[in-house]
Amino acid sequence: MTTGARDAAAAALDARPDMGSARVLRESDLGEVEGALLDLLASLPVEAEPTAVVAGVLDVLAAAFQGRSLGVVLVLPESDTPQIELRLPPGMARPRTDPIRLFPDLDEEWVLGLAELAGSTLHVASAGAPLGPGTPRVIAERAAALLSARVRTALAVRGGRPESRQIADLRAQLVQAEKLATLGQIVAGVVHELANPVTSIVACTDFLLRRPPAAGAPPDDLEHLKRISVAAERILKFSRDLVSYSRPAREEVGPVALHEVILQAQVFSQHEFERQGIQFATDYAAGAPALLGQSGPLTQVFVNLFVNAAHAMSDHGGRLSVRTRLDPAGGLLYVDVTDTGIGIPEATLPRIFEPFFTTKDAGQGTGLGLSIVKEIVDAHGGTLHAASTPGEGTTFTVGLPLLRSGRP
Ligand SMILES: Nc1ncnc2c1ncn2[C@@H]1O[C@H](COP(=O)(O)OP(=O)(O)OP(=O)(O)O)[C@@H](O)[C@H]1O
Ligand SMILES: [Mg+2]
Repeated sequence: MTTGARDAAAAALDARPDMGSARVLRESDLGEVEGALLDLLASLPVEAEPTAVVAGVLDVLAAAFQGRSLGVVLVLPESDTPQIELRLPPGMARPRTDPIRLFPDLDEEWVLGLAELAGSTLHVASAGAPLGPGTPRVIAERAAALLSARVRTALAVRGGRPESRQIADLRAQLVQAEKLATLGQIVAGVVHELANPVTSIVACTDFLLRRPPAAGAPPDDLEHLKRISVAAERILKFSRDLVSYSRPAREEVGPVALHEVILQAQVFSQHEFERQGIQFATDYAAGAPALLGQSGPLTQVFVNLFVNAAHAMSDHGGRLSVRTRLDPAGGLLYVDVTDTGIGIPEATLPRIFEPFFTTKDAGQGTGLGLSIVKEIVDAHGGTLHAASTPGEGTTFTVGLPLLRSGRP
């Protein structure tokens, strides 16, 4: 990142008559060096470390102050040991330094304090030709001011202001969420493509099954054909369901059989259950009437809850139970989704429905699952509640309005 800015500064300040090995800086160089410094600072990422800022600024100054010795002493709040970074003219051995005078053996040394960074300094030193007043001094002072401001920003981003860090994290998570959404569209496209050939397989096996078996055909052929037909039907149904699930929710609100929605969510999550060794059990309220809602988004609610539960039990497997309870007086059907996973610490529980809140490693979760669940349940006029005992498990309770209650 700094190489470009350093090269630009070097090109802008190309060979001029020097005094000995040191370059003479003129007033016209001031704007160019300052421009190179500003370009460098703009090109550094928000989360750049203070040491990266120092290295970049010294590189730009080294291109301007050719033949001089340069250094920065940085005292950071978290450490008592000053960090020293040097830029020396070619051929010069690393000098004996102390943090007060970095170049005690040289003839002349400027020491410029970095504002609001107690103990931190920028050093410009010369072994022979005087540093001279005027432009070189102004350049050094501006560089010290810019360096100090940018290091303080870097420190604020790193720890002083956690929200700055959060913004960087949120940005990364948004990119991840966007990637997942794109992946969903690609998968929907692939599944759609798959549906055509599978439809042909279903149609052809159907046709062959209806024909009287050819004379002399092995008796097993019919059985094999039936198995092909059943398997292809399953693929077809799964493809159709997956396409309708991934489609944006423009579905009309209407009667929804919740137990079918749960079954569908179970089918989508089955792979996850098998991978983590999870038993799935249901205990349904008898005679539960239909709900008023959208089956696609409601399926998404349970897929998210089931996948979270499966992740929470990924260490040793476990049991995922789904129980439905009727509350006719309240006009609600409650669904308890209980797992025997790691549970959620009390301090974390209030945060789990926040968008982008996740305890999973980068790339493992976006932290959007439960916020989407909440949004869908709210849109249905429902209720959502989580209770957990760390080490024992978690229960999410979703309450959804019954159709006959007449609520939207
Ligand atoms: N059943 C559960 N058991 C334990 N912790 C859970 C459970 N469900 C959710 N959590 C906690 O809540 C956090 C947020 O869940 P959420 O579904 O919103 O995001 P995520 O699963 O981390 O990522 P994704 O966006 O991929 O779903 C999880 O990271 C996890 O810490
Ligand atoms: Mg999740």
